[in-house]
Amino acid sequence: MSIEKELRIMHACELGAAGVYRGHKCVARYFFRANLSNLDNMRFHEKDHASIFRNLLKERDARLCFAHQLFFIGGLFYGVIIGLLGLKAIGTSTYTIEEIVNGEFELALIKLESDSSICTKIRAIQLEEQQHRDSGKELAGNNYALFGVVERIAKTGAYTAKYLASSL
Ligand SMILES: [Fe+2]
Ligand SMILES: [Fe+2]
Repeated sequence: MSIEKELRIMHACELGAAGVYRGHKCVARYFFRANLSNLDNMRFHEKDHASIFRNLLKERDARLCFAHQLFFIGGLFYGVIIGLLGLKAIGTSTYTIEEIVNGEFELALIKLESDSSICTKIRAIQLEEQQHRDSGKELAGNNYALFGVVERIAKTGAYTAKYLASSL
């Protein structure tokens, strides 16, 4: 896979993540105000991650994914639905998705090791994803009855986004 394609997939998935936290934030505004700023902070990080990948693609004169805005919209829908299931669902989803993201960045760092400037950027992004993962875990708690269900939905969502990004 070319570097451009790797970057394109990461850009689309970061847009999806920005949508997800935006969706959570919409629900939190009404039901979980205490968590609003944490969710908004994560949304802000994801927007920033998307623009880092967008700039890297621009520098290379490479295109973005076709219909990349759909990733944001898809993420937004997903984020609202999970949000309506409650704070523990948000936590479980966040933990599950960010754990996948962390693993994907781990693989990307190996594939892109010849490009140290991209790797430096990815490492900085990865640190924020790890913070998101840890705060998701905390929010989910230890005995959430729907953990397995939400985990499965989150995994399906994350891998569907990745698959779509690699085909568009
Ligand atoms: Fe991100
Ligand atoms: Fe994240």
